[in-house]
Amino acid sequence: MPKPAPHILMCPPDYYGIEYEINPWMSTERQADHGLAVEQWQQLYECLVKAGAEVSKLAPQTGLPDLVFTANAAIVYQHQAVLARFKHKQRQGEEQHFCRWLEDHGLRVQEAPGDFSFEGAGDALFCGETLYAGYRMRSDAGGHQEIGKLLGVRVLPLELVDPYYYHLDTCFCPLAVDEAIYFPGAFDSYGLQVLAEHVPKLIAVEESEARSFACNAVVVGRTVITNTGCPQLHKQLEQAGYSPIATPLGEFVKAGGSAKCLTLRLDGEEAADW
Ligand code: ARG
Repeated sequence: MPKPAPHILMCPPDYYGIEYEINPWMSTERQADHGLAVEQWQQLYECLVKAGAEVSKLAPQTGLPDLVFTANAAIVYQHQAVLARFKHKQRQGEEQHFCRWLEDHGLRVQEAPGDFSFEGAGDALFCGETLYAGYRMRSDAGGHQEIGKLLGVRVLPLELVDPYYYHLDTCFCPLAVDEAIYFPGAFDSYGLQVLAEHVPKLIAVEESEARSFACNAVVVGRTVITNTGCPQLHKQLEQAGYSPIATPLGEFVKAGGSAKCLTLRLDGEEAADW
């Protein structure tokens, strides 16, 4: 049977802006240019459609400027979604909108277990059958283990040690079941050992490109979409048989996000083996 088209959720940036500071990239004194943000978002949308994805849109909401970062909505596994419980109160109002959309579109939505904070696919990414889970800045290690039990999957927790790489998807991107991009500086020595032992093919990103959100890539088939400013990674991706595409996302970097953060894969990430 042919695989259905990859399905991605995005939220248009109508009410996007830098209204508070909850990560080191954000400064309310460095506002996003609204017109440019709209243009950049639209270009990303078009790249995804061109790469073969079906893109659904969540209705934007006033007063929720970070709702554009749909990666944080939930983690999707088969027909289930484990909903985010945001660490910062500024984003907690997003939960009900993500919940309603996912339920209305046929997913069985569950609350994240316990009272742990959990920021969805921003911090929990499948590579093969294993769920790699970033913790410390936004999601809790204990919560990830509970989610693993709930879904019946193995979880490998990775501690995030650099506040600029506060979500796992800012420093780690599975490409295929056995291959991933990562920025070594965002992990401690134990995390680096876990990655080296479990992911056979690792592509390391240098710091200057990690700062351009090189690791925050969206993978659709063999197409890998990133922000501009990652030429070295793009060369490595070509050598590894991928088709990298750069699209400018600087207005979203001002909020600490880029391509991947602006998307939620609803049918399972390309690298997920389920
Ligand atoms: N301003 C948002 C926050 O700090 C950015 C979220 C980026 N999302 C991501 N999946 N890395 O929460």
